[in-house]
Amino acid sequence: MAAESQKTFYLETFGCQMNVHDSEKVIGTLISEGYRQVQTVEEAGLILYNTCSIRDKAEQKVFHRLADYKKLQAQGKRFGVLGCVAQQEGEKIFERAPFVSLVCGSASYRNLPQMLVQVEAGKQRVTGIDDRETDECFETEFTARSNPHRGYITIIEGCDKFCAYCVVPFTRGKERSRTSESVLGEARQMAALGYTEIQLLGQNVNSYHDPAEKKTFAELLSAVSEIAGIRRVRFTTSHPRDFGRDIVEVIDSHPTLCDHVHLPVQSGSTRVLDAMQRLYTRDQYLERIAWMKAAKREISITSDIIVGFPGETEADFEQTLSLLDEVEYDGVFGFKYSPRPNTPSLKLDDAVPEAEKARRLSVVQEKQREIQRRRYQRHVGQRLEVMVEGKNDARGQWIGRTSQNKVLNFVQRDGVSPVMGGYVSVVTTGSFPNSLLGEMVI
Ligand code: 5AD
Ligand code: SF4
Repeated sequence: MAAESQKTFYLETFGCQMNVHDSEKVIGTLISEGYRQVQTVEEAGLILYNTCSIRDKAEQKVFHRLADYKKLQAQGKRFGVLGCVAQQEGEKIFERAPFVSLVCGSASYRNLPQMLVQVEAGKQRVTGIDDRETDECFETEFTARSNPHRGYITIIEGCDKFCAYCVVPFTRGKERSRTSESVLGEARQMAALGYTEIQLLGQNVNSYHDPAEKKTFAELLSAVSEIAGIRRVRFTTSHPRDFGRDIVEVIDSHPTLCDHVHLPVQSGSTRVLDAMQRLYTRDQYLERIAWMKAAKREISITSDIIVGFPGETEADFEQTLSLLDEVEYDGVFGFKYSPRPNTPSLKLDDAVPEAEKARRLSVVQEKQREIQRRRYQRHVGQRLEVMVEGKNDARGQWIGRTSQNKVLNFVQRDGVSPVMGGYVSVVTTGSFPNSLLGEMVI
């Protein structure tokens, strides 16, 4: 067998969309370096984990996975830990899992080719763990996007917000934006390849700052939306502090821009928001919600909530519940507060007991389920355009996604078969708290 064909890798990704997209870029880099991606650890010479450390549970996953495959080391396989746990734990990973030979955080991926040469040469303990100071973004010649119809583009990396609970500013380094020209170039390239949906990514897309001073974030949104062939543009994640009215205006004037905004509130209590160092009050948050509700297009709003932040009282928690009633989100991701290394909130007293966090989380989830049951019902009878994402053969249904980012399962019309990645019109006939049901009309 030729040596080249033996350079195989397996990569497993944990965590957020940024990590999923980083993995697409890492895969592109490895393929450019002559590696072949395989789908099982057994087939792979190099086993990589792109890790997440946002909550303790996410972090533990990688160590469990490494323990599972430790025995494979005897077969000469090499292991690498990438991503947020790599950045956070650094060389400590070698102590905990001595068979790992590469540890690399996201701010050092641009140096991966050189690091891989060292790993291949048998070097142990190869590291790329940048400090917060890097100014560079990870741009690749080739990105191995996993979906041929819709794809991510990073517009800003890192984060300078330092919310008291959050590990991201430590794992992903300081905020750095790509030029609007580079983003638009990538978007045009994707359109030429047949992509119709683009999702712009960043920890905090609203603090996007074009290094060439050519475009604001809202202007970048409209420019991407105007590229020929692009039918849907999404963006995530927004930070309420930096979320401007111009974003609502650009959604109103650009139908290509999806009518969905993920605007994490974290807590409905101004006191807790202050302790979290979120830099906005409940009222300021609600003001942004009011802008969206006053828009000409109906904008779907979703959020993240943390329950059990240190010092969160029952009264604070009730403020979160009343905010859920007031906003009526279309979706909420709820989390129990998880203390994270290096973060300011580690030093806070008054931890909320685990059982109480669990109770509060289930109250949030139960309440939100009822809100969504009502919210989703309003789509019944509406004619919506969906992108076709898949098929559920067992149910004889297709899986579609609306512009508002809702799953709409539908039955096809006799003789007209939808194509994957295509767009069809569907009349909604039923609703559940997390999905819609319908019949194709075109
Ligand atoms: N504990 C619990 N949830 C957290 N998140 C971020 N850090 C923590 C933490 N330490 C949640 C926030 C964020 C989402 C991506 O994860 O709600 O918006
Ligand atoms: Fe997890 Fe945050 Fe890293 Fe994404 S940026 S992988 S959510 S720790």
